[in-house]
Amino acid sequence: MGDKIRVAIAGIGNCASSLVQGIEYYRREKKPVGLSYPKIGPYLISDIEVVAAFDVDRRKIGRDLSDAVFQEPNNTRKFVELRRSGIKVQMAQPLDGISPIAGDKILLDESKAVNPAEVLRDSKTEILVNLIPTGATRASEMYAKSAIQSKAAFVNATPARIGSSTQWQSRFRKAKIPLAGDDIMDQIGSTILHKNVLSLLVDRGLRIGETYQLDIGGGTESQLALDKKRYEIKRNIKTSSVAAAVPYQFPIVAGSSDFVDFMENKRTSYFNIKGEYFGGTEFSLDMRLSLEDGPACAAVVTDVIRMVRLAKDRGQTGPLMTVCAYGFKAPPKRVADQILKEELASMLKGKRQN
Ligand SMILES: NC(=O)c1ccc[n+]([C@@H]2O[C@H](COP(=O)([O-])OP(=O)(O)OC[C@H]3O[C@@H](n4cnc5c(N)ncnc54)[C@H](O)[C@@H]3O)[C@@H](O)[C@H]2O)c1
Repeated sequence: MGDKIRVAIAGIGNCASSLVQGIEYYRREKKPVGLSYPKIGPYLISDIEVVAAFDVDRRKIGRDLSDAVFQEPNNTRKFVELRRSGIKVQMAQPLDGISPIAGDKILLDESKAVNPAEVLRDSKTEILVNLIPTGATRASEMYAKSAIQSKAAFVNATPARIGSSTQWQSRFRKAKIPLAGDDIMDQIGSTILHKNVLSLLVDRGLRIGETYQLDIGGGTESQLALDKKRYEIKRNIKTSSVAAAVPYQFPIVAGSSDFVDFMENKRTSYFNIKGEYFGGTEFSLDMRLSLEDGPACAAVVTDVIRMVRLAKDRGQTGPLMTVCAYGFKAPPKRVADQILKEELASMLKGKRQN
């Protein structure tokens, strides 16, 4: 067992719920089923300790984290009973965290916002994980700034441009703090599946003609998809992440979403790929994937937290390129899968990353 990794979470929504539950689940469950990396350096998932939490919703503020994660509008699966954590969710500034479309889902608390940098310092947070809604750019920047002020590493699981922004990269470099982002890549989700199927087809010599991927889901994030302007950010990230799997340009739409309230935190994605193989023969491939969003996000967040801590232990700061390429849809630099596997293996063996 490694030292404890002291983590703060901004945004106690569905992903945070699965993350907090996952830490407890893998503390009890000794079989590493459902994990890519049971151990990263000396660190197990159960070495992650949440020491501070921020939100803006009155159903969560002031509650023990173990209770807050199960409050509405969170609707992801409960897979473990949590013990009291002793960590109360604290009120943050909402800024653009509340969207005009999904805003009615959040019941804004009226208490005064805390100073996040102070909370991070007082709680001796080592890593701040940003899990606030898509489109909350100003609020995400507030957390990135607070991480710098309190000398905590920053993991941006949201699509806000922080890890992929050269300005933020140089701020974190200058402050000598690790940075990882943007927009977590699910353990299993429409982007990773779509990319890998396209790669397989390209490797087998097929020519991709066109492809699309359409999602429907019932979490707050899927409701945000109805705010087309806000969701454009997410759709662009998904489209360029999937397009990078094919070495030429072709018509592609990825990440177009709709909202179906009663699906709760489940998401169904429909894919179609058309193209040609030997002798110009046409093919058409249809796939459907159904899963729950929260756990798919939390799985990779637990890897990234442990990789960031490992980098910190080795004195590495600024944007962590290998971690970003592994864990995020919009990393500062994309790395081909085979090279990424080799870089990850050598990082886990003890080499410093790029
Ligand atoms: N599989 C996935 O779910 C997945 C995958 C990739 C990326 N992400 C990203 O993770 C983030 C979280 O997703 P989610 O499904 O947990 O969302 P969610 O809507 O369930 O949770 C967001 C939480 O943030 C809170 N919030 C709003 N403004 C805030 C502020 N200023 N400070 C603190 N808290 C604030 C909300 O009250 C809510 O509790 C999103 O940005 C999403 O794009 C999720």
